[in-house]
Amino acid sequence: MKYILVAGARPNFMKIAPLMDAFARRKTAGNGFSVCLVHTGQHYDRKMSEDFFADLGIPEPDINLAVGSGTHAEQTARVMVAFEQVCQSESPDWVIVVGDVNSTLACSITAKKLGIRVAHVEAGLRSRDMSMPEEINRLCTDAISDALFTTDELASDNLRREGVPESRVHFVGNTMIDTLLRCIDRARTRPLPPGLEAKGYAVLTLHRPQNVDDPRVLAGILGAVGVVADRMPVVFPVHPRTAKNLDSLRLHPNLRIAEPFSYLPFLGLVASSRMVLTDSGGIQEETTVLGVPCLTMRPNTERPITCEVGTNVLTGNDPDRIRNAAQSILANGMRQSRIPDKWDGHAAERIVEVLLNEHPIFG
Ligand code: UD1
Repeated sequence: MKYILVAGARPNFMKIAPLMDAFARRKTAGNGFSVCLVHTGQHYDRKMSEDFFADLGIPEPDINLAVGSGTHAEQTARVMVAFEQVCQSESPDWVIVVGDVNSTLACSITAKKLGIRVAHVEAGLRSRDMSMPEEINRLCTDAISDALFTTDELASDNLRREGVPESRVHFVGNTMIDTLLRCIDRARTRPLPPGLEAKGYAVLTLHRPQNVDDPRVLAGILGAVGVVADRMPVVFPVHPRTAKNLDSLRLHPNLRIAEPFSYLPFLGLVASSRMVLTDSGGIQEETTVLGVPCLTMRPNTERPITCEVGTNVLTGNDPDRIRNAAQSILANGMRQSRIPDKWDGHAAERIVEVLLNEHPIFG
């Protein structure tokens, strides 16, 4: 059996790292299979890509498609054209894609049309918000995948409701949390940036087009974050997309602008923070596992389990709602939370077990 594992953008790298590991461990047990790692190059800056490979100990990709940035159609199309050639020359039995970025969609469609089976890791998440490109990527990828690995039962239920046969759905847990649990001790030994004390600062990340592309919206959000910055430093590692619009804004003096952090320093930073304000997908899950309060500045989430049992609260990007939610955390601390089932560090092993051993027959 030959597997191609695809990664393209920053949030993919922590999801493939434990899969590479789990495959490598099975390899030494003498199984006859090979794994080829393809990086599409959707993210290409050292701070968005290379540093993550180094921090996570992921081997150099076997193939880098170096597609770079562009409009959604350009980026998706470039990945498809380049990945088709890879599939033709490598003839894999399976293509494994993770998450919901443009590379996930592009590689799953390309493989499926060549008659190659597709496995989707982190399947079934739904925000029901079709203005999010990631929601379109999730829906399309899940519709054509042969094996769908979910992080929680809510996601499995979404797939069942959409008519995905039960035999294709596997609730395995969360590979991103596998990586977090593997790295957290090392991350905690990293020194915090100068001037920060554990639980004495907050962390802010923003990159969603709805929040950062219109400078007025971005200014409203940053104004609301001022309620936290009045009390403590707010560390703000800036995504390239957001950087373009920051220059024109007057920033609170306690907002500490930084370049994107690599994985271990960022994990250490979040773990020791008082609260996180974000519009990311994955950070909602990481804060839930770390027990750190998280305000998600989006109107909806594809990860409702983090609100139901974890530390996450949705505020949208309305400045008043952000201010009120932040004030409530500053005043009352965090509500009771727990870690979702099977977020135990073994999701990747379960996935590899299914792929190697169950030999499911798919139509
Ligand atoms: C992408 C994903 C999103 C994920 C996010 C995490 C899609 C549709 N979106 O959004 O799901 O949460 O990554 O970061 O796939 N850029 C650089 N250097 C880089 C990468 C990007 O400068 O290494 C710039 C590009 O020029 C581009 C902008 O950042 O204009 C956006 O990059 P892109 O990959 O298109 O989408 P993201 O907003 O990063």
